[in-house]
Amino acid sequence: MGLPKSSITVEIVTEADDNLRDIILQIDEEAFGFGSLSEWSLPLFLHYGRLYIARLNGEPVGTAELMRDWRDPELVYLYGIAVAPDLRGSGIGTILFRSILESLPKAGYRRLQLTVHPENQAAIHIYQDKFGMKQVDFIRNYYGPGEDRLLLEWDWGRIRL
Ligand SMILES: CC(C)(COP(=O)(O)OP(=O)(O)OC[C@H]1O[C@@H](n2cnc3c(N)ncnc32)[C@H](O)[C@@H]1OP(=O)(O)O)[C@@H](O)C(=O)NCCC(=O)NCCS
Repeated sequence: MGLPKSSITVEIVTEADDNLRDIILQIDEEAFGFGSLSEWSLPLFLHYGRLYIARLNGEPVGTAELMRDWRDPELVYLYGIAVAPDLRGSGIGTILFRSILESLPKAGYRRLQLTVHPENQAAIHIYQDKFGMKQVDFIRNYYGPGEDRLLLEWDWGRIRL
């Protein structure tokens, strides 16, 4: 943690000009490579999902995307969360994730699920140690052969922020 919290803001965005779009795609590409958002999927999250931006002193430095679950109206899925590589470890991801969780009950959602690589210690530390997310499954080959993932869940009924 090196940054004053007041320098970090989080907002939901529904429109992105060319500059913001390029920054979002770059942050996501640097985090997820070929599994990242693209010119084709980003507009869908802007218009049909929900896209969050974290800014540091006004500059976009983090992004996260949510989708809703068709079977459970109280459940959302965190498609991705990423912070610019040179700024990781400064508290931005924690603030971004907290903002997402805080926004859910106000919007009528009570649970959030996500999948995470079993060795992604930084992300798991945030999800489980800081926000009390529970592991509800271990899904072998979730994204194809060898791509196992933990399925974690946050439940507003059990965990208060
Ligand atoms: C996951 C991610 C969004 C977190 O963002 P961030 O801004 O670095 O997060 P923060 O700085 O708020 O917190 C990181 C925490 O992980 C800890 N951490 C970092 N590396 C760690 C490791 N190898 N093992 C355990 N904890 C670790 C940090 O110490 C910090 O915890 P602390 O606040 O208790 O000191 C960022 O690392 C990222 O973009 N990763 C690549 C994309 C990704 O993996 N996304 C998640 C997919 S499920």
